[in-house]
Amino acid sequence: MTARHIDGKAHAAKLRATVADHVARLKQENGITPGLAVVLVGDDPASGVYVRSKGRQTVEAGMNSFEHRLDARASEAELLALIGRLNDDPGVHGILVQLPLPDHLNEALVINAIDPAKDVDGFHISNAGLLATGQKSMVPCTPLGCLMLLRDHHPGALAGMEAVVIGRSNIVGKPMAQLLLGESCTVTIAHSRTRSLPEVVRRADIVVAAVGRAEMVPGDWIKEGATVIDVGINRIERDGRKVLVGDVEFASASERAGAITPVPGGVGPMTIACLLANTVTACCRANGLPEPEDLTM
Ligand code: GUN
Repeated sequence: MTARHIDGKAHAAKLRATVADHVARLKQENGITPGLAVVLVGDDPASGVYVRSKGRQTVEAGMNSFEHRLDARASEAELLALIGRLNDDPGVHGILVQLPLPDHLNEALVINAIDPAKDVDGFHISNAGLLATGQKSMVPCTPLGCLMLLRDHHPGALAGMEAVVIGRSNIVGKPMAQLLLGESCTVTIAHSRTRSLPEVVRRADIVVAAVGRAEMVPGDWIKEGATVIDVGINRIERDGRKVLVGDVEFASASERAGAITPVPGGVGPMTIACLLANTVTACCRANGLPEPEDLTM
């Protein structure tokens, strides 16, 4: 089988256009402009690139973008005070603290200081708990983007499918497994200590790889016709050139999968598009307005 390549870039562009339409309507009909605040602590270059990109796309969708940069040595009290001000600011509907934080800051404490209603990352324990118990929550952006791609590109219903999520992070693996469970898939979460990983992956109709290890899933682990969602973005050197690769060996997996996301151009662009979508959802909820059905699960 030769896999269809899932065009995450095109899908994300469509979602951003839908977000922009909702923003325009909120402005025109309700006089409200959704606002997203992004907080960056320190000067990690990769985080800096992501934060700039988030700010640019927020503005392009017609929303207000508020960028807050703190010194790498900023104290926890300083960061918590900023979060407190953003929680109280009615013009801010979404708050994102870029991770990872410098080592001296307690990530869980910081994330849980964000008002859950403004937690557009969906990382607050209250949102994680709501998702795990099947209640309305803010859904983490990368898993939400993966689910949107699966809904559009997996042939037939997701219900009853064998799904394997490789990776157990709070940001991707765990919420992804919850979303697939919500779709009535039979879900396995595999990780670095899983025994017989090749056999586990070979059972799967749906594979979501989110481990952050370059090409660790070879094509011959993939079941014929499976849908493969590759969350990994790994920078490696190949033939003397720096290239981006996923957690899955794309060429060999393409020979067996039914559909597969490329890296780059697959899941990556969906994450920021879903962040914008979550900001509009949060804004509608904050203002007692019906939330758009085409921006979430
Ligand atoms: N760092 C890497 N991915 C993410 C994300 O989705 N949200 C935040 N806040 N930080 C990240």
